[in-house]
Amino acid sequence: MPKEALSILDERTHATYEIPIHNGAIRAMDLRQIKTGPDDFGLMTYDPAFMNTASCRSAITFIDGDKGILRYRGYPIEQLAERCTFLEVAYLILFGDLPTAPQLKEWVGQITHHTMIHETTKKFLEGFRYDAHPMGMLASTVAALSTAYPESRHVHDPELRRLQIMRLIGKMPTIAAYTYRHSLGYPYVYPDNELSYTENFMSMLWKMAEPKYAADPVLARALDILFILHADHEQNCSTNVMRSVGSSHADPYLATAAAAAALSGPLHGGANEEVLRMLDEIGSKDKVPAYMEKVKSGQLKLMGFGHRVYKNYDPRALIIKWAADKVFEVTGRSAKLDIALELERIALEDDYFVKRKLYPNVDFYSGIIYQAMGFRPDIFTVLFAIPRTVGWLAQWEEMLGDSEQKIARPRQVYTGQAVRDFMPLEKRGVEIATPVV
Ligand code: SDX
Repeated sequence: MPKEALSILDERTHATYEIPIHNGAIRAMDLRQIKTGPDDFGLMTYDPAFMNTASCRSAITFIDGDKGILRYRGYPIEQLAERCTFLEVAYLILFGDLPTAPQLKEWVGQITHHTMIHETTKKFLEGFRYDAHPMGMLASTVAALSTAYPESRHVHDPELRRLQIMRLIGKMPTIAAYTYRHSLGYPYVYPDNELSYTENFMSMLWKMAEPKYAADPVLARALDILFILHADHEQNCSTNVMRSVGSSHADPYLATAAAAAALSGPLHGGANEEVLRMLDEIGSKDKVPAYMEKVKSGQLKLMGFGHRVYKNYDPRALIIKWAADKVFEVTGRSAKLDIALELERIALEDDYFVKRKLYPNVDFYSGIIYQAMGFRPDIFTVLFAIPRTVGWLAQWEEMLGDSEQKIARPRQVYTGQAVRDFMPLEKRGVEIATPVV
């Protein structure tokens, strides 16, 4: 049986080292012994954007990017999307197993119990301009919850952690809906705890004068499936932020707000909104080839395409395409779908995309569904943040419970000036004749 180890020869010193391999990785700290002398700091790894660096060990989500596989706690995403509700999957992601019927009933009751937000939080929202972006409002308001629950800073108290987790999962849809209502100048709709998680969210968004909001069951189920698909995705950009901010023992509200900020970027969760803008810009199916030429010339990115991990079809995109058909049976087919399908058809055949293994990701079709369901594009990333809060919190708890984790503090490769003496003000900017060597 070959040894699970690397043998390294340092050509500078001709010293050799044996570095053990565990789970397909070596410990970066094992490289520090590789020195040229006693004053040498030792070798580091240089990995901008963490292209090949595992920051943690995690048991929550497994992705095989080459095979297009995604599993939460070992369960294939396809089975969970088909058979579960979002809160059922949230329980699985957070606690490691699918809940029994009594556990699920209690869990749904606990989340439902925490859907209301403090009246002062509503006043906080009223401070935003009418055209404030919902993600900016969401991240700020979630951060403000930190001031409402100061006990949340006791991050090592499991009971207090569980309470904040339930509060955040319960309140995210409420805050999200309130940002939407604020932007329209509509009165806020209080949570209706007789409704399911997604139906209640739809009620807080769209209920007007009717006594009780009745969600279309097909649309409510589609939204539940979309929430399941967005719940976690191992060490993506925003989850990395959640873990990093959480590693300083900041409270979960401020860590979640930071994660939401990261998600808002157009390269990450903000891509679903950008996809809609792109489809609107293209305008019609016959204009797709010209647009693709711009992408291939490097002028533009094809939003909703490509992924750091998936070098095959994002399994979530396939499920979203299936859900889209169900939604369009209710809402009518979106003309944007034809443009999206044409973009996909060309991309899957064109060498530029094939060579770079660029496939549709989770954001490519989600925006089309959301718009067909009546959501405005600027709230799409909020729709991503609501379910991803579950993944952020599960990863946060896992980090806190990992004895190997400490405050996140990467090293750097310094490329700046060597030591130099202070330059008095009167001498700055004065051309100094460079000494002739
Ligand atoms: C999400 O990490 C996660 O898991 C994220 C996520 C989650 O659930 O949390 O899955 C959610 O964020 C999905 C991604 C949404 N973003 C977009 O759709 C924006 C468009 N996609 C790209 O910006 C890009 O594909 C990324 C950011 C998603 C991934 O970028 P990488 O891994 O850093 O890849 P790269 O930029 O190094 O690209 C490699 C090559 C480059 O070409 P060359 O320099 O080799 O010539 O592929 C090209 C890129 O220019 N490329 C694209 C492209 N994506 C990559 N070219 C055109 N259009 C694109 N979308």
